[in-house]
Amino acid sequence: MHVHRLERLWMTIGVVMLAVFLAAITAAALIDHMVPPSHVQTIDPTRVAQTPPFDHPGLHKLPDGSYEAYYNARIFSFTPSKITIPRGAKVTFYATSPDVVHGFSIPLTGVNMMVVPGWVSTATHTFKDPGTFLLVCNEYCGAGHQRMAAQVEVK
Ligand code: CUA
Repeated sequence: MHVHRLERLWMTIGVVMLAVFLAAITAAALIDHMVPPSHVQTIDPTRVAQTPPFDHPGLHKLPDGSYEAYYNARIFSFTPSKITIPRGAKVTFYATSPDVVHGFSIPLTGVNMMVVPGWVSTATHTFKDPGTFLLVCNEYCGAGHQRMAAQVEVK
């Protein structure tokens, strides 16, 4: 079978790029110990409501002035449904699910996680501008998926 010279060159570039990307992912995983944001820590999904700190989800201020926010994501709501933080606050979000896979996305920020039962997902963002940010579930999780949202108010 005759393959045109340019066609062969194009296929070679494709295969080489694939090998480069796979090598980059492998190196990041093995050398820098990078993991997806949903794989930080495990939790028993049947005992989320009894497992600290998810037994008291909400906002906690740390001694260095930053915040931690613990969320329980379940069909079809987030707990807490609203948090209020001062402008400039650095917040680390932790989220887990006792039922199905949910999304945890705050548009216009870098926070966009998959929340998988049995795992704790985490992401950090510094809220420089005041306003009310919407926290939405962006993984289809059932009949009430479109109602699953919460608010992050920055004053
Ligand atoms: Cu939870 Cu969609």
